Amino acid sequence: MSNKVRLCPVADVKEGEPVGVFLEHFPALAVYYVSGDIYVTDNMCTHGNAMLTDGYQDGGIIECPFHGGSFDIVTGAAKAFPCQVPIKTYTVAIDEGWVWIDKP
Ligand code: FES
Repeated sequence: MSNKVRLCPVADVKEGEPVGVFLEHFPALAVYYVSGDIYVTDNMCTHGNAMLTDGYQDGGIIECPFHGGSFDIVTGAAKAFPCQVPIKTYTVAIDEGWVWIDKP
């Protein structure tokens, strides 16, 4: 896993309770559990200065805490106005009970 970076234990990520991860050399990240799978996106809303982990997760949708915009957690697509720019998503690997993504 030398080309990967470790984010958090899988067990820490519960449906509806996304976990914020803050690492050097990375933008703030959000880790989600959706229907048995783990997903990672950038944490910062593309509309403003809000952390999506402070928002509301409804299944595969994360709603921003600020203006009611939302994103598809799996694809990163903007789903509700005023969000229009997708959030970046990351390829996730699970190893030894931890969530990993590729190094930049
Ligand atoms: Fe997220 Fe405006 S900052 S919807």
